[in-house]
Amino acid sequence: MNDTKRVMIFSGAGLSAESGLRTFRDSDGLWEEFDVMQVCSVKGFAKDRKKVLDFFDKRRIQLGEVSPNAAHRMIADLKEHYPKEVIVITQNVDDLLERAGCKDVIHLHGFLPEVYCESCKEVSNIGYKAMPKLTCQKCGKKSLRHNIVMFGEYAPYYATLDNELEKLKVANGLFVCIGTSGEVLNVAQFTRYAGKSVLNNLESSWFDEYFDVCFIESAVNAAPKIRKLVEEFIQA
Ligand code: APR
Repeated sequence: MNDTKRVMIFSGAGLSAESGLRTFRDSDGLWEEFDVMQVCSVKGFAKDRKKVLDFFDKRRIQLGEVSPNAAHRMIADLKEHYPKEVIVITQNVDDLLERAGCKDVIHLHGFLPEVYCESCKEVSNIGYKAMPKLTCQKCGKKSLRHNIVMFGEYAPYYATLDNELEKLKVANGLFVCIGTSGEVLNVAQFTRYAGKSVLNNLESSWFDEYFDVCFIESAVNAAPKIRKLVEEFIQA
């Protein structure tokens, strides 16, 4: 196995759209219904803690009602067959990649099934339930919150992303980008770290031209084509 080959599979909300989870900026997106600064920002959380906790409770409960799709399974299969070559990084906070069997998923913006205590920093997985009565099991303080990176907060895993991009550059690797508008992370810039890049989105966007290959279709339809490109790249 040629272990100098590296493939970064980077994803956004579009990866989970066909599982029934809403994206953020599409026509029926979450940020069309909710004011992102009210329900997913440091300021909004300080202003109305309950509103924000309720917002994430509803999304956590809904997560328990949906299942992974063929695109999650494609990524999980590639990671299983090429554990050293394939790095899976997502902006998504859902656990659908894990439920498709994917190991070592790097979640840049947090993880919806988890809560953490602002007092003792204990992180616990509560599955798909509404948050228990806010009291931390470990320290007893009423300081539990969602383990999600809100706007205005530091995203600790961005350092890991930078590190993985540097490794991709050294390996002249393959960058695969699935289902993101690039509004928060500039995926067009990420193509500069790769020898080859593949984009899959439902609609065309300004950054299509930065990618060598573009599949402008649903992730489920593109999944077998993406798998083929990744396997050919690794086996070349
Ligand atoms: N298959 C593939 N792509 C899809 C599909 C689909 N079925 N449905 C939608 N898409 C694409 C859209 O074309 C769009 O490019 O998914 C993207 C969704 O964009 P956003 O809603 O902006 O989601 P995302 O890019 O993940 O947002 C990034 O913003 O609010 C923050 O923290 C939040 O992680 C999120 C970040």
